[in-house]
Amino acid sequence: MADAVSIFMSIGLSEQKAKETLKNEALTSTLKKAIEQAQGLLGSASVDKTAGTLLYNMVTRLKDTNRLSFLTEYIITQKITSELQLSAALDFLKSHPQENLDRLEFETACGVGVVVTPEQIEDAVELIIRKYKDQLLAERYRFNMGILMGEARTALKWADGKIVKNEVDMQVLHLLGPKTEADLEKKPKAAKPKAAEKDVKIEQVSVENGEANTEGKSLMEQLRGEALKFHKPGENYKTEGYVVTPNTMNLLKKHLEETGGQVRTRFPPEPNGILHIGHAKAINFNFGFAKANNGICFLRYDDTNPEKEEEKYFTAIREMVEWLGYKPYAVTHASDNFQLLYDLAVDLIRRGHAYVCHQRGEELKGHNVPPSPWRERPVEESLILFDRMRKGMFAEGEVTLRMKMVMEDGKMDPVAYRIKYTPHHRTGDTWCIYPTYDYTHCLCDSIENITHSLCTKEFQSRRSSYFWLCNALDVYCPVQWEYGRLNLTYTVVSKRKIIKLVETGIVRDWDDPRLFTLTALRRRGFPPQAINNFCARVGVTVAQTTMEPHLLEACVREVLNDTAPRAMAVLEPLKVTITNLPTNAQKEVRVPDFPANEAKGSHVVPFSKTIFIEKSDFREVMEKGYKRLTPDQPVGLRHAGYVISVQRVIKDGCGNVCELEVTCASSDSVEKPKAFIQWVSDPLQCEVRLYERLFLHKNPEDPAEVPAGFLTDINPYSLTVIESALVDRSVGKSKVFDKFQFERVGYFSVDPDSTSEKLVFNRTVTLKEDPGKI
Ligand SMILES: *[C@@H]1O[C@H](CO)[C@@H](O)[C@H](O)[C@H]1NC(C)=O
Ligand SMILES: *[C@@H]1O[C@H](CO)[C@@H](O)[C@H](O)[C@H]1NC(C)=O
Ligand SMILES: *[C@@H]1O[C@H](CO)[C@@H](O)[C@H](O)[C@H]1NC(C)=O
Ligand SMILES: *[C@@H]1O[C@H](CO)[C@@H](O)[C@H](O)[C@H]1NC(C)=O
Repeated sequence: MADAVSIFMSIGLSEQKAKETLKNEALTSTLKKAIEQAQGLLGSASVDKTAGTLLYNMVTRLKDTNRLSFLTEYIITQKITSELQLSAALDFLKSHPQENLDRLEFETACGVGVVVTPEQIEDAVELIIRKYKDQLLAERYRFNMGILMGEARTALKWADGKIVKNEVDMQVLHLLGPKTEADLEKKPKAAKPKAAEKDVKIEQVSVENGEANTEGKSLMEQLRGEALKFHKPGENYKTEGYVVTPNTMNLLKKHLEETGGQVRTRFPPEPNGILHIGHAKAINFNFGFAKANNGICFLRYDDTNPEKEEEKYFTAIREMVEWLGYKPYAVTHASDNFQLLYDLAVDLIRRGHAYVCHQRGEELKGHNVPPSPWRERPVEESLILFDRMRKGMFAEGEVTLRMKMVMEDGKMDPVAYRIKYTPHHRTGDTWCIYPTYDYTHCLCDSIENITHSLCTKEFQSRRSSYFWLCNALDVYCPVQWEYGRLNLTYTVVSKRKIIKLVETGIVRDWDDPRLFTLTALRRRGFPPQAINNFCARVGVTVAQTTMEPHLLEACVREVLNDTAPRAMAVLEPLKVTITNLPTNAQKEVRVPDFPANEAKGSHVVPFSKTIFIEKSDFREVMEKGYKRLTPDQPVGLRHAGYVISVQRVIKDGCGNVCELEVTCASSDSVEKPKAFIQWVSDPLQCEVRLYERLFLHKNPEDPAEVPAGFLTDINPYSLTVIESALVDRSVGKSKVFDKFQFERVGYFSVDPDSTSEKLVFNRTVTLKEDPGKI
């Protein structure tokens, strides 16, 4: 029966479960049947784990085995992809025992093909929060958030639970604001499971059921707090996995003398590309952790690769770090240490831990590299050859210096130095050998006396080489800690792909506002504070996080709501003449800059016989639920204190409405209208640019979603330019990058393309509320 075990394990069952299954003959035979059919449908032997788990669960619960192939097909063709759907399917089959069932009815019952948009999630969650608003405000974070999740799950039956949870969290945060000291105190202390952690990692603080987690805490609070199980400076040895040598305690003592126990971190970008939203997390984490603990953080350019470096990247990286509000303690370069690194390499050879190798580049790639025949060559020989390497006596690729160690992934003897006859932007042609990441990174950390070397999880496999090298050279060894990287959907961030987008003219440049590079976000008008808040929201967890852009946008709105003054603009103007005002009537209307807090100031806009409203705010034919202007339904004008009623609809030759004649009445004297709309009078003309997502699919890089590649997934409406919008005169004196909230339209930022004749505004984000719904 051993081969049945392996068949079952091939669909993702554990060995134990596979063996247990075998004890049940009926189950075994049904499951085998299902797997055979699945493999037939797939045309291969590999059933992935998700489908495998669903198959297993289906087989254990299916009463009527005549339905086996029917359901297997739904699972394998990925029409049923979740437990929730499977349960619905099984229930449906139980209650529809007849031979021929209605496929459509079945598919509806188990949500086949249902796509729940972020907007639908947002709307549904908004309704639920509104329902519990009073209770939430009274109980704040003591409120049982599980209730909200429960209702949201019911309302959004087929939505991705994680996204729903994110949205609930976001809206709760929005309503209540971050947790205050009082919130934190009142929280009953949940017994914390203190399971010893095997890996060196940051404890994942976000818990699925929405209870104990980092929500609402500022990044600084999180970074100071005990969520991070980081060691104290000098206590490196307390970290699981840290390698202690006979000299470790002595080195740590010296380290403490040098640093006085100060926390030291570094942000180490390679200067070969532009920073993107994922780096914002790294910046916040490294600089934030140092700052929260009165430590220091270096900005270190990892400039060991002479081919890739360009001055513009150095400048841009530093600018973005500062834009996010952080100041490096010092700006350093890996190349500052080239001489020291070389001396250490000589020492490493002397100690018998490295050798010069003549295997060629191609032979060194991959994992099944044959062991180097030069591994055991005499130290003296390697010393001479390494010296020759340095003197330029070999061709590129002819020799390398390799370290005698095996990496976690089984890779043997990683390269420490390779030859490159490319001048380096800082050291010119002093060197023709350059150290690799694996050799350089830990030693630079050691040289800078770094206490916590924070990096993303993909470097986990480099951890043992990190410790190994410091110990092989008997120098101070920092602790490497890994955290999860931050990904965003509906975008691409790799340098190569952005270059493609620029080259094909799909976007204008690296800082095109539709991209998620940090320079692009700045152009688009995202305040740095909003980006930092977003990083805090994501939390400092070890888990990989993939976020929807609208969560970032929510953070942007939160900041702009308090900082961008209101103005009125209409994108598609409709002329309105107020017949019961005298021709020369000139009134001034005072508009608060922040209606929620009038003390923050106000501005004045003119009001006269001719005004303009948004075309979509008028409908000739009434529709149920439409609250704005129609021939029979008056509407209020925001801030003006007037209600207008249509007297005459004027049309052009083609029958399009081109003007309205209305009368106005003071809003005190008439019944309150169902809605108030924005308007402008004697306005300025301006150009307005609206953005949508650049990509149509969530994961444009995923061949399963976009088989023909990300370049084929461009949203044709990602940029709309409206050349003659109208805006009120209060924005007339604004400067480039000033930000406004155009009432009911969105947040906008003044573009550098503006001239004295014409202002240009780029939309930063839409308002949360649907402008049609007020
Ligand atoms: C790191 O510590 C060593 C002594 O252990 C000291 O010589 C060196 O100057 C320190 N480097 C920095 C960048 O603080
Ligand atoms: C995040 O993005 C990187 C690079 O595109 C990718 O390798 C990784 O799998 C992504 N992680 C998740 C959780 O999507
Ligand atoms: C405004 O939008 C245009 C068109 O997409 C773009 O070229 C420009 O860089 C944007 N400006 C800002 C400040 O975002
Ligand atoms: C904007 O801020 C005010 C308080 O300053 C608040 O009452 C209002 O709900 C906020 N609106 C949004 C959409 O965040």
